[in-house]
Amino acid sequence: MSPFTIAFLTLVLIAMLFILVFAAVLLTPFALPLLAFGAPFIPSAGKTVERMLDAASVGPTTRLLDLGSGDGRIPVAAAKRGARADGIEVNPWLVWVSRQRARLSGVRELTAFKCGNLWTYDVSAYDVVTVYGLGPIMGKLEQKLLRELRPGTRVVSQAFHFPTWRPVREDRGVMLYVVPKPSVAA
Ligand SMILES: C[S@@+](CC[C@H](N)C(=O)[O-])C[C@H]1O[C@@H](n2cnc3c(N)ncnc32)[C@H](O)[C@@H]1O
Repeated sequence: MSPFTIAFLTLVLIAMLFILVFAAVLLTPFALPLLAFGAPFIPSAGKTVERMLDAASVGPTTRLLDLGSGDGRIPVAAAKRGARADGIEVNPWLVWVSRQRARLSGVRELTAFKCGNLWTYDVSAYDVVTVYGLGPIMGKLEQKLLRELRPGTRVVSQAFHFPTWRPVREDRGVMLYVVPKPSVAA
């Protein structure tokens, strides 16, 4: 093998290694939901976001949390209505995008995006919780919300029902739930 061929192959190998590392750094955060027991990133349509906020009557007095907040579109839309709105998201790239979205929309002060696992995040301070989850997690999520949220808290789910709660309102795949009072037997 000529020195030229060896140099060329070494360069190709280095380039391939670089692309692999780059792809891993870029794409691994999108695989995190699988490890963190959650839904992959599928953003809500703009009209659906507005329908979710309408369903929960989100306004200037609301303290909202989006569980698995993706690119931040729900908290940012809520903040544009004057609400204080937070997002918890496992993917650090999406947290970064969310913060830029909030900044560009002029609502940075009304929003907070945290990078973390929704299963260990304390949701008790909020009066509206939104979620676009997956069928298999809704049972576990219902238990968490029931443990931590005050009765009367509004919970809006897109596409997936909670297994035992009944929605008080349902419109084109957007369900509004109100956290019930604990049962006397519990
Ligand atoms: C279906 S997307 C919804 C995004 C956003 N809420 C919306 O409606 O446009 C679900 C999001 O939850 C995030 N996620 C999944 N599991 C999570 C976990 N355990 N903790 C925090 N975020 C999680 C995913 O990374 C993804 O961005």
